[in-house]
Amino acid sequence: MDERIAKFREFKKRGERISVLTAYDYPSARLLTESGVDVLLIGDSLGMVVLGYPDTTLVTMEEMLHHTRAVARGVKDGGRSPLILADLCIGSADTPAEAVHNSMLLLEAGAHAVKIEGGASHVAQIKALAEEEIPVMAHIGMQPQQVRVEGGYKIKGKTAEQARALVADARAVESAGAFGVLLELVVPEVAAEITAAVSIPTIGIGSGTDCDGQVLVLHDLVGLFPWFKPKFATQRADLAAEIRRATAEYIGATKGG
Ligand code: KIV
Repeated sequence: MDERIAKFREFKKRGERISVLTAYDYPSARLLTESGVDVLLIGDSLGMVVLGYPDTTLVTMEEMLHHTRAVARGVKDGGRSPLILADLCIGSADTPAEAVHNSMLLLEAGAHAVKIEGGASHVAQIKALAEEEIPVMAHIGMQPQQVRVEGGYKIKGKTAEQARALVADARAVESAGAFGVLLELVVPEVAAEITAAVSIPTIGIGSGTDCDGQVLVLHDLVGLFPWFKPKFATQRADLAAEIRRATAEYIGATKGG
């Protein structure tokens, strides 16, 4: 097993929480690496917070590869070694063969592992990746690539039937060979149940505090996307305000000669 994946799995055994943040470019990857984050995720959320798309359904493999290369350069120069995880974007893993092909491209671009949206529905893809020794994390609960089909970002696990299906999803991806499972917008009690039910680490977003780790979109953490703020994200800096202030100061200084 890849040393980084073994380290990732050790966190859960030791009871140490895992910190995951998204990064999409060289400076953010380098700063977060220097700060000691455990995992950097080149999420397809880059479509929204970097490229200005309305959701993640327009992101292409070409864009994922471009940003993965930039992040890999930042990690190298940051001098530490977080796990670099890259998203398989919409349409890139519809079949096991596509999943393997596109994951190889992400690994060549500098990722150490890939993330795929889907649970029991994607067991064939996860098995194919595991057979090729490509480390894969599954993403269950709210799957943003389904946002148009579902008509919004809806909380998952509210009914007993949904909760059972989520636990089954997590068990299915673990047996298929996933090394971790991301839980998005899962009712906290259900996220806790899943975390106890599987031996692989769970990484939560908007899913309560009982997961093995937490992931946040960097822009939500540092206030760099002020036009939309998810309710569950704690903003710890206000970079948008700083950029506006510095820009106004610069414009004033320039106009004033
Ligand atoms: O694309 C992304 O950034 C994600 C989030 C859930 C963190 O998958």
